[in-house]
Amino acid sequence: MDMQRIPARDGNHNLQDYKKMRENFSWNDVKNNFSWNETGKVNIAHEAIDRHAEDPSKKDKVALLYSSPGREEKVTFEQLSKESNKFANVLKKYHVNKGDRVFLFMPRSPEFYAAFFGILKTGAIAGPLFEAFMEQAIRDRLQDSEAKMLITTPELLGRVPQEDLPDLEKIVLVGDNSEDSDKYIDFKKEMNDATTDFDIEWVDLEDGMLIHYTSGSTGKPKGVYHVHNAMIQHYATAEWVIDMKQDDVYWCTADPGWVTGTSYGIFAPWLHGVTNVIRGGRFTPDDWYGTLDKFNVTVWYTAPTALRKLVSAGEDTVKKHDLTSLRHIMSVGEPLNPEVITWGLKAFDLRIHDTWWMTETGAMLIVNIPSEEIRPGSMGKPIPGIEASIVDNEGNELPPNQMGNLAIKEGWPAMMRKVWNNPSKFESYFINGWYVSGDSAYRDEDGYFWFQGRLDDVINTSGERVGPFEVESKLIEHPAVAEAGVIGKPDPERGEIIKAFITLNDGYENSDELLADIRKFVKTGLSGHAAPREIEVKDTIPKTRSGKIMRRLLKSWELGLPTGDTSTLEE
Ligand code: WT7
Repeated sequence: MDMQRIPARDGNHNLQDYKKMRENFSWNDVKNNFSWNETGKVNIAHEAIDRHAEDPSKKDKVALLYSSPGREEKVTFEQLSKESNKFANVLKKYHVNKGDRVFLFMPRSPEFYAAFFGILKTGAIAGPLFEAFMEQAIRDRLQDSEAKMLITTPELLGRVPQEDLPDLEKIVLVGDNSEDSDKYIDFKKEMNDATTDFDIEWVDLEDGMLIHYTSGSTGKPKGVYHVHNAMIQHYATAEWVIDMKQDDVYWCTADPGWVTGTSYGIFAPWLHGVTNVIRGGRFTPDDWYGTLDKFNVTVWYTAPTALRKLVSAGEDTVKKHDLTSLRHIMSVGEPLNPEVITWGLKAFDLRIHDTWWMTETGAMLIVNIPSEEIRPGSMGKPIPGIEASIVDNEGNELPPNQMGNLAIKEGWPAMMRKVWNNPSKFESYFINGWYVSGDSAYRDEDGYFWFQGRLDDVINTSGERVGPFEVESKLIEHPAVAEAGVIGKPDPERGEIIKAFITLNDGYENSDELLADIRKFVKTGLSGHAAPREIEVKDTIPKTRSGKIMRRLLKSWELGLPTGDTSTLEE
């Protein structure tokens, strides 16, 4: 079916003409927006916080509008600057140096953001971890990164396997703590003693600032390493795609444990000195609408999973709230269903703008901008400065309307600079000058890109990326499980759900209780979003002769599709 196209609307944006922008574009021009362009002194924390704190007209502006059940706070740019200076002093006191990895494992809170910028101000590399992670996920990430320090809460401390983390020197505890050990640093006490002056560490644009772990189809999660230079693209896309204006109230719903929550939940708004709403936790549709309503949010960046929940909640729920301040909506993380766009036109009288990018790309690449027509179902077109294409497995470009690997010409400002401790993994992303995404897509004659699926076994469940290997590894730690193969199974609300096929060890009988126990084992050992919603017991798990689990075959079985080439199948 040829979907209705939705034209750009006049009046709510002042973006330049897309074609002209692309033609005359140079990333160098964006550099004029940063103070380092004149001073030569670089640090993303200075551009995002301190620069506004030093500006008399900006310092008292609310940077952070924080809201969570039982706690509401406003933090100005000046306050955030001082609090992060204090925390940087705490880190220096405990010998954190430029390049050290300092991880954060805690819920979103004003303390989180002060600590985050404190880390960057010392020149150290921040590693935010999603608060729902359990022990195995924490162990993998802190071990691989050789983290020197961790900031967490007393409630989450039990999930940190300290005995397995020899590099971890200190743990900062945010919240009332009765622990008595010189391994622990009391956040509140140290912050009370710390001064608000700090000599920020000036760095190179190519120095590290952030590691986000993400899943591939094989192996443990990979540490995707980003550098300060990424700010150039955060800033530019905030202007073109987010349509950021000085008096906006901006809300990005992603947790900073995922890249959307840092690139667009922290940097994009604050590089522009714009008020940023932070709301923690998982919510009901009434909470989503309530937050938009209460804070008079003008620009909203969210995910298809959330939007689909709102659609299911129906029109009566929308009508209970005043959403008239909202003027711009964007989405990321999974395919944005055309039905959701149609619903958005009705519910909000606004277009929902899909954006495509990845942890590895650091910032938006293929987008719908306010000044261009939307073709529902398409992710849009590449931003200025980005060359995107569809290539075959050798890196040769394919003509329009042909499906292939979605690829980006190497070398954009926010691109990952390495995979931590894993140079060969990093190199494996690049073929013939193209960064190959792992997504399949096609491009139409007018340059719009259409997502088709993943080419590898990576699972996308409710917008969260899960590697099957991680889940399989956890499953086989359960005493009843002999072997496991894990796939993504299509699901109307969650995009995909995780389905596990397992074989049982001798002495175990298949029962609902057993399967529930296995599911709980993954949930409490790895994380809730990685726990399989469906588990099926099999006599054998198909493997290649070299012992690799044939997930593709499992998926074909599950979907009732032809099984294709099975010549490598083990006898
Ligand atoms: C994968 C990246 C950084 C964004 C958050 C997810 C899928 C992302 C879209 C979209 C269809 C999308 C892709 C991609 N994805 N955006 N607009 N339409 N699929 O980052 O966890 O690194 O996952 O998410 O499959 O490869 P991530």
